[in-house]
Amino acid sequence: MILLKCMKMLHVFAILLLPYLHQAFGGAGNEWGYEGKIGPNRWHINFPHCAGFRQSPVSIRMNKAVFNSDWLLPFEMRGYDSADNINLHLENTGYTIQVNIKGRSIYITDGSIPGTYIAEQFHFHWGRVDQRGSEHDIDGMYFPMEMHIVHYNAKYMDFNDALDKEDGLVVLAFLFEIGNHNDQLDHLISHFSEIPYRDNVTLIESFALREFLPKKLDTYCRYSGSLTTPPCYESVQWFIFYETIEISEEQLRAFRMDVHQNHPNETIRDISDDFRPPQPLYQRNIYCSRKSDDN
Ligand SMILES: *[C@@H]1O[C@H](CO)[C@@H](O)[C@H](O)[C@H]1NC(C)=O
Ligand SMILES: *[C@@H]1O[C@H](CO)[C@@H](O)[C@H](O)[C@H]1NC(C)=O
Ligand SMILES: [Zn+2]
Repeated sequence: MILLKCMKMLHVFAILLLPYLHQAFGGAGNEWGYEGKIGPNRWHINFPHCAGFRQSPVSIRMNKAVFNSDWLLPFEMRGYDSADNINLHLENTGYTIQVNIKGRSIYITDGSIPGTYIAEQFHFHWGRVDQRGSEHDIDGMYFPMEMHIVHYNAKYMDFNDALDKEDGLVVLAFLFEIGNHNDQLDHLISHFSEIPYRDNVTLIESFALREFLPKKLDTYCRYSGSLTTPPCYESVQWFIFYETIEISEEQLRAFRMDVHQNHPNETIRDISDDFRPPQPLYQRNIYCSRKSDDN
């Protein structure tokens, strides 16, 4: 009798709680995040690709890298110098701050790029403190922020079509260091107040993406890997550049404080620490340029 009553109460309790459980753990079974029960070491439960043998990010160990400068030829960047013919939409995805590039006029080709790859979006990974934030590390050194410019192979219909293809994506990765105020970043930061919550999107003034990047783009490391977020498809040729981009503490604070991973009616949480830890390299090589002395 008592048992029955208990079970009934439990039942009522469960029904009352259900909407909240749903929200916390993902009703569709495909929620993921960067900590706890939905953190990176559990992604593979719902996204089996995340347990593959060519995952990203990885630790770049310079003494194990293959230095093959003949293969790592400089490549062409087309449309990067111009703000024409593109629209930029700044989006809070709840997982990152992302700029969606509308238009097919920005692409990379030739040199070590295995085809023509069109820029689709760029986004950031950053830490709550300066000692972490980047996804890739170089000889165990982490950076406070990393930017990914995601390109898809022009031979596919669109980004979504290319997403899971072996030759689908090229990502250019740039590491940040704390330093002077970076005027270019203000193109984005000045709009953070319009996208405080998940799924907020705002159209921003177009600018030439090249202004964002370091001057020297001919020294980098390259390897085959994956998306660093679920579903972790192994479709990415990674290019990680040696020269870093500067960002001031104050600007980094805007990334940490002004944008949130929730909706307005949920508990406020910042997006910071949106990085996946390094994955095993297994049989892969990382190919790197020799560091030139003339920078
Ligand atoms: C941001 O999203 C919230 C709902 O999640 C909405 O109330 C608000 O108007 C949005 N702001 C903008 C600028 O779109
Ligand atoms: C408030 O939260 C519920 C989930 O509990 C969600 O369905 C709804 O869209 C949220 N409202 C806003 C304005 O974001
Ligand atoms: Zn990324």
